[in-house]
Amino acid sequence: MKSLLFDGVGTEPYLAEVAVADPRAGEVLVRMTTAGVCHSDLHVINGDWPFDHRVALGHEGAGIVEALGEGISDLAVGDQVVLSWFAPCNTCASCIAGQSWLCQASGAATNGLPDGSTPLTAADGNEVRPYLGVGTFSDYAVVPRSAVVPIPAEVPAAVAALIGCSVTTGVGAVMNTADVRAGQSAVVVGCGGVGQTIIMGLKLVGASTIIAIDLSPDRLETATEFGATHTLRGDDPELAEKIVAISNGGVDYAFDAIGLAATSARLPDYLKPGGAAVLVGMPARDVEVGFKTWHLVATGKRILGCNYGSSRPQVDFPRIARLYLGGQLPLDKLIGDTIPVADAARAIDDLRASTGRRMVVDHSL
Ligand SMILES: NC(=O)c1ccc[n+]([C@@H]2O[C@H](COP(=O)([O-])OP(=O)(O)OC[C@H]3O[C@@H](n4cnc5c(N)ncnc54)[C@H](O)[C@@H]3O)[C@@H](O)[C@H]2O)c1
Ligand SMILES: [Zn+2]
Ligand SMILES: [Zn+2]
Repeated sequence: MKSLLFDGVGTEPYLAEVAVADPRAGEVLVRMTTAGVCHSDLHVINGDWPFDHRVALGHEGAGIVEALGEGISDLAVGDQVVLSWFAPCNTCASCIAGQSWLCQASGAATNGLPDGSTPLTAADGNEVRPYLGVGTFSDYAVVPRSAVVPIPAEVPAAVAALIGCSVTTGVGAVMNTADVRAGQSAVVVGCGGVGQTIIMGLKLVGASTIIAIDLSPDRLETATEFGATHTLRGDDPELAEKIVAISNGGVDYAFDAIGLAATSARLPDYLKPGGAAVLVGMPARDVEVGFKTWHLVATGKRILGCNYGSSRPQVDFPRIARLYLGGQLPLDKLIGDTIPVADAARAIDDLRASTGRRMVVDHSL
């Protein structure tokens, strides 16, 4: 099969032939139909999260069940499924507590299957590890059952693919991590794939004031289409003052959907007393950010980390699909050009440009 590989910092992704193993007991072979392109692939290519191994890129995608390993009876060949890039072990304390986004034993941590192995081998005989255990820019994926979430066939493949990361992260940040209530106010810093779905989620739960921030005028325009009530530029020297003025004393929630130290460190300045900053965007691994501790203590402001929208894919993917099918989340409007996997590297350049809607890779082209 074809796969988009990446050998390490300083090299460029390239398309190559890769062999995929048959699914073992408890594993599923999925023929990928569509993959989205999220900034977490770009972090790998930029060297923010260096690996000592070759990876098959892509972590947001949907496909069709092609074959089932022994012992799986609750899926059928031909089912449309979305892959979760944080396959839970379902046995650790976090998983048992219903918080699978905090799982400590996910294969995602090692870019492989839960036992540490990889189903992929390159033409030179060396191993390839699927990024976050999925590697969605490959024609096929072999993943544990817990990474596979059935999704109704009427959900278009491109929408299903985006549910695999950016949508679940953004909508989950609002509904799960922050638990925003109707009438509350929020600011969203960064309006890429994740930020736009935070805005959609805020509109869905009835937030009254939604302030979108970006550097790209067309992304701010799209944010307005999705529900932003106000827009501001990220390089506005009076950003905090303007947010506080619009929200009459600070917002209830401030979401960072970029991950730059400079943007996440400012979030507490946008909050009203008792408000919460939600860190969704991810920095390079060792980045540290300073907060005025006294200020946080005295004002009761909170900082919340958000992995995968604090979501449980088996519950949240179908819920998001239902909201889409019911017309409450206009997810198809997130999608821009559709391109073949051979051009997947172009989609990554497109992410760097920070303009327009999400490119989607169609494996059938
Ligand atoms: N927490 C999670 O589980 C999770 C899941 C998915 C993605 N992420 C992370 O979320 C972040 C966003 O991902 P994405 O795919 O939406 O990225 P993206 O590249 O599509 O969007 C980033 C946006 O930030 C804007 N931006 C950049 N600098 C800015 C500034 N100084 N002020 C205002 N806006 C600015 C860009 O114009 C762009 O629109 C990434 O760090 C990604 O790794 C986290
Ligand atoms: Zn992602
Ligand atoms: Zn677990």
